[in-house]
Amino acid sequence: MARILKRTELAPKIVELVLDAPDIARQHKPGQFIILRPDARGERVPMSVANVDVARGTITTVIQEVGVTSAKLCAMKAGDEVASVVGPLGRPTHIEKFGLAVCVGGGAGIPPLHLIAKRLKETGNYLISILGGRDKRYVLMESEMRAISDEVILTTDDGSYGKKGFVTVALQELIDSGRHLDYVLAIGPPMMMKAVAEVTRPHKIMTVASLNTIMIDGTGMCGACRVSVGGKTNFVCVDGPEFDAHLVDFDEMMKRLRMYRTQEQLAYERYLQHAGACAG
Ligand SMILES: Cc1cc2nc3c(=O)[nH]c(=O)nc-3n(C[C@H](O)[C@H](O)[C@H](O)COP(=O)(O)OP(=O)(O)OC[C@H]3O[C@@H](n4cnc5c(N)ncnc54)[C@H](O)[C@@H]3O)c2cc1C
Ligand code: FES
Repeated sequence: MARILKRTELAPKIVELVLDAPDIARQHKPGQFIILRPDARGERVPMSVANVDVARGTITTVIQEVGVTSAKLCAMKAGDEVASVVGPLGRPTHIEKFGLAVCVGGGAGIPPLHLIAKRLKETGNYLISILGGRDKRYVLMESEMRAISDEVILTTDDGSYGKKGFVTVALQELIDSGRHLDYVLAIGPPMMMKAVAEVTRPHKIMTVASLNTIMIDGTGMCGACRVSVGGKTNFVCVDGPEFDAHLVDFDEMMKRLRMYRTQEQLAYERYLQHAGACAG
């Protein structure tokens, strides 16, 4: 069990939870994730760690409501306890002094970038962060990312904040400006990560993506998180979550993410009806 110490709504259907989890806070390295279960009968879902405070023994995660389990987590309040939190899981990010490093985050993919970007900066990289959202409300953690970046480029799909367009437009402009990019990390919706990989591929820029597949056990046993990378099968929970984005079969990954969509949507509708009925 882990107590929720603080809950903040960052944007519509996006909630930040600060959890009392001293062991995980002490052991966590940038890039690693946790698996949360809201209640004893609930499903376990993987989430990234957006911040760690070792002195206070807390970890922060930012959750986007997309289905039943994320909705249950988003509905929890400060003082509530999640039934379980397991971690840190997965391999930490490989970080070295690459030179010019670019972190590209889309919406709920921005918080998972934060600790990795911070470590990239501390390791001596020149850091450019490209942060994008549907509109201004979804450009998350802007001040935290500004505090650790040498340059920040903001984009919104509707042009309500920063440049109008996708993060890939800003990335393409950066490349076209003649600057030499040594490393790109992308975290966000699978389609965004695929598009980032296609922008950097012709320029042979090292590009890493943190994959958000479906997971069940998180121990490499069930196969739910299987992805093809360079034609070989990998398990995101133990071999990842980060992989060479130029080698990931994103189309297969997106197909597998859609596998249970009908059942997931039905379950979510039922949950929302029940939650509405309980609220009166
Ligand atoms: C390593 C890792 C880190 C993650 N970090 C975060 C995080 O920090 N914050 C966050 O909000 N989410 C994160 N995710 C995604 C999160 O785990 C899923 O959104 C969650 O499991 C959905 O569960 P659900 O029961 O609410 O929805 P479901 O009923 O399982 O799914 C509802 C809808 O969301 C889609 N979906 C399901 N799983 C995913 C997924 N993994 N990625 C994209 N779409 C999905 C389904 O296709 C469906 O349309 C992470 C995933 C991984 C693997
Ligand atoms: S979640 Fe089961 S193998 Fe990765």
